[in-house]
This record gives sequence, structure tokens and C-alpha cells, in this order.
Amino acid sequence: MKEVKKFYLLLHPRPAYLIGSGRVGERVNFMAASWVTPIAEEPPLVGAAIGVDSYTHELIEAYGEFTVNVVPMSMLDALYYAGSRSGREEDKTRVIKAVKGEKVSAPVAEGAIGVLECRVYAKVKAEDVTFFVGEVLAARADESAFDERRGWNTQRVDIPLHNWGRGFYGLGGFRMAKA
Ligand SMILES: Cc1cc2nc3c(=O)[nH]c(=O)nc-3n(C[C@H](O)[C@H](O)[C@H](O)COP(=O)(O)O)c2cc1C
Repeated sequence: MKEVKKFYLLLHPRPAYLIGSGRVGERVNFMAASWVTPIAEEPPLVGAAIGVDSYTHELIEAYGEFTVNVVPMSMLDALYYAGSRSGREEDKTRVIKAVKGEKVSAPVAEGAIGVLECRVYAKVKAEDVTFFVGEVLAARADESAFDERRGWNTQRVDIPLHNWGRGFYGLGGFRMAKA
């Protein structure tokens, strides 16, 4: 095996999500994030590593809430857009419509097939990133593509995976070796 400097490439491809931040009616923003992970079931916690220079970071610090939006492959252009421009320079909600969360005031992305609504529970400052731990106050999924026992039905829905220089794959391409 050869030595790897960009260790994180070993952990890709991984799903890319839209992080919603801010407060609907005031400031709102979406960015793409793939460094997102479940942490605990009880209390329900999810973590997201967010660059300190991003507008998203500023808004999560300001309002203490964020949403994790699972988007289908059909929203790939919007996802890529949210991951390559800053909300400081342009209003991304002209492309990705913001809807108020049910338990938080942070925005949910219209067209998302799954949503976690989170309140900041803890944060770890790590150099140029803050790892925000969010308590999941609400979690919803499109019932036509998800069931509680088996999770996403990847025959019905394609979720984008990000693999850096190689772009995106659709999770829908995955098939179990044995049924
Ligand atoms: C597929 C993809 C995944 C990304 N994942 C992350 C991530 O996990 N954490 C992060 O800080 N930035 C990530 N980025 C970069 C941010 O989305 C990007 O810096 C964005 O412009 C920040 O927007 P903002 O300034 O409006 O918050 C990712 C970008 C793409 C395209």
C-alpha cells in the first residue's frame, strides 16, 4: 500500500448533504457538506465539520441551529452550487427555496427527501474547522422512499455521494450482493 497524505480521501465517497443555517425571515443560507455523521442515538446527536470561514459557520454560531437536508440526485446542480459559492456573496435561496423548520427556525431545503432539525449541543474547535454537534429535535423522511426498519430504498431514490476529483455518484447504483 502507498502512503496517503490526504487521509480524508480514504473516507470518501460519502453522501453530500445541504446544511441549512440562519433563521427564516432574517438571514438564511445553505451549503454542501459531506463531513457529516451520526454520533449517538440517546440523546440523538449528529455532527458536522464546518469551515470557520464559511457563512454557514457564522450563522450557526449566531443562531445555534442548523438543518441537515438529504437531497436526491436530481438536486445535484443545486448541491454543487451551494458547495461552491458563499452566501456572503449571493443569496443561495434564489436557487434553493428555504422553508422554516418545524422545531427550529433554521431553513429546510424545499425538495429535500430527508431532514434533521438540530440545535447546537456542543462544539469542538479544530484548527480551521468547528465540529458542531447537533441534538436532533426532529427527523423526517419522504415515506415513498424510506422506511424505519430498512432505511432508504435505493431502488426508489438516488442520493449523491461525493468523491472529490471524481465527482459524484448516485447511491441508487448500489445493489446488495445477496438479497
Ligand atoms: C460536495 C461538497 C461537500 C462539501 N463538504 C463540506 C464539509 O463537509 N464541510 C465544509 O466546511 N465545507 C464543505 N464543502 C464546502 C462548502 O460547501 C463551501 O465552502 C461553501 O461555499 C460554503 O458556503 P457558505 O460560505 O455559504 O457557508 C463541501 C463542498 C462540496 C461541493
